[in-house]
Amino acid sequence: MTEATTASAPLGTAPLLEAPILEAVDVTKSFTQDGTPTQALKGVSLSVAPGEFVSIVGRSGSGKSTLLSVLSTLLRPDSGQLSYNGLDLTRATEAEINALRHGDFAVIFQFHYLLPYLTALENTLLPFMRGLRPVSGAQRKRALECLERVGLADKGHRLPGQLSGGEQQRVAIARALVKDARILFADEPTGSLDSATGATVMELLGQIHKDGLSVVMVTHNEQYASLSDRVVRMADGLVAG
Ligand SMILES: Nc1ncnc2c1ncn2[C@@H]1O[C@H](COP(=O)(O)OP(=O)(O)O)[C@@H](O)[C@H]1O
Ligand SMILES: [Mg+2]
Repeated sequence: MTEATTASAPLGTAPLLEAPILEAVDVTKSFTQDGTPTQALKGVSLSVAPGEFVSIVGRSGSGKSTLLSVLSTLLRPDSGQLSYNGLDLTRATEAEINALRHGDFAVIFQFHYLLPYLTALENTLLPFMRGLRPVSGAQRKRALECLERVGLADKGHRLPGQLSGGEQQRVAIARALVKDARILFADEPTGSLDSATGATVMELLGQIHKDGLSVVMVTHNEQYASLSDRVVRMADGLVAG
C-alpha cells in the first residue's frame, strides 16, 4: 500500500484487504465415464486477488485442469459457489458467461489450438471475428500491438507451421490478450515446450502479470510455480496446501 492510501484511510480503521476478483468456495465436480463416477473436485475453495499470480500444482489426475475449467467457466461446478467481481457465476445467464469469455477471461492451454491455415495475425484476430463481419482497423491495430507485446511483430504473416513451438504458444497468448482480458487462465502453458522455450513463455507471462493481469496457472514445474505470488497444491480433488 502506498503512503498516500494509508494516510487517507480513516483513523482507527484496519487497512482494507482487497476483495478477491475471483472466488470459489467448496466447489465440487464429478464426471461419469463408462458408468464409473470420478469426483474430480471434492470441495475446493480458492480466491484470487486482483493482479495476483497463482500457480496450481499437483500430481496428474489431482483435479488441476478441472479446477481451472470451473474457474474459467468452461465447466459448471456440481455444487459450491463461484463468483467473479461480485457476479455469482453459478447463477449467471449464458449471456453473462459469454460476455466474460469474450472479455475479461482469457484461457491458454498446453497445446496452442491455433488454426493452421490462418496466419499469426489472423489467429490473433480470431476473437474479433463474428460471422462475415470484417474486422475493423482498430481491431487489426490491437492485434498487431498484442503480437508486438509477445515479441512477434515481424512474424504476423507466418502460418503456425512456419513458427517454432514457443512462438506458436506466444501467438496463443497474443490471441488471449487481444480482448483486453483481466484474468489469464493457463493450463500447463509450457507443458509441450523444451525448457529454454518454456522459460521464455514464463518470462512473458511474468511481464503480462506485471502489466496488471491476474494469472492462474497450472504447472508441473515447481521452479515456474515458485515465480508466482502463491502456490496452491492439489491432491486427490482437494487443495492440500
Ligand atoms: N471429461 C472427463 N470425463 C471423465 N473423467 C474426467 C474428465 N476430466 C477429468 N476426469 C477425471 O477427473 C480427475 C481429475 O482430472 P484432471 O482435472 O484432468 O487432473 P489433472 O489436470 O490434475 O491431471 C481424473 O481422475 C480424470 O480422469
Ligand atoms: Mg491437467
